[in-house]
Amino acid sequence: MKSTNYSEKVLDHFRNPRNVGTLEGEDVAVGRVGNPVCGDLMEMYIKVEDDKIKDIKFKTFGCGSAIATSSMITEMVKGKSLEEAMKVTRQDVANELDGLPPIKMHCSNLAADALHDAIKNYRNKSKSMSAPTKSPEEKREIIGEKEFENKGVYHKADDLSIFKDKRVIVLDKGDRSQEIALNLTKLTSRVILATSSKDLVTNPELKIKLKQSDVKILYESEILEIRGTNEVEKVLIHDLNEDEEYELFVDAMIIL
Ligand code: FES
Repeated sequence: MKSTNYSEKVLDHFRNPRNVGTLEGEDVAVGRVGNPVCGDLMEMYIKVEDDKIKDIKFKTFGCGSAIATSSMITEMVKGKSLEEAMKVTRQDVANELDGLPPIKMHCSNLAADALHDAIKNYRNKSKSMSAPTKSPEEKREIIGEKEFENKGVYHKADDLSIFKDKRVIVLDKGDRSQEIALNLTKLTSRVILATSSKDLVTNPELKIKLKQSDVKILYESEILEIRGTNEVEKVLIHDLNEDEEYELFVDAMIIL
């Protein structure tokens, strides 16, 4: 093919581009790339169902070759699995178009790169959507938690007066547990808030109040076990930073 000749297929897809537009929805991901050679831009939208590309659209600020390759790639991958679509190269697209003039081959990068970018973004998005939204503390069972239920382990903290002058450890489960720890300081000077995080995930106002309060915050700490004879006497803590375990004497533990 001469450097300026376009195949019939290229001209057809340029004049009547298929699948131009955008898509929206939870199952949609978008890939955006810029062409480093000419500075043009491409956006590729994929709608995924059962790991297959159910629908695909594109929007470009590129030249005729970019439009033709994008239009062609949307037809090539519609209905394909993400894995199959990931394998489609710019050369495949050019071949399907019966070739592109050599000086326009760089334009076909936009379509393939934007498609691959959209697939990667979809995979990242679905990974984060299926990731547990609860903190590890909420999922993991602590040894002794059931055994000491109401014998020092409390899953509610409606009446804080029962903790007066006690050594209380509160498992960090977000704002509510942090507020309880804060309120407990009015009744006892020995309040510990244990969190597995490096920093508290909370609203800025509460964070400042906690840091200025008498609540002792144990960061990167995981409660492994609650120990005692008839009632809670101590907890076994795993210091995630030092990877060490140690016991702490407490009278009560609040696990919301
Ligand atoms: Fe920019 Fe073709 S010249 S995409």
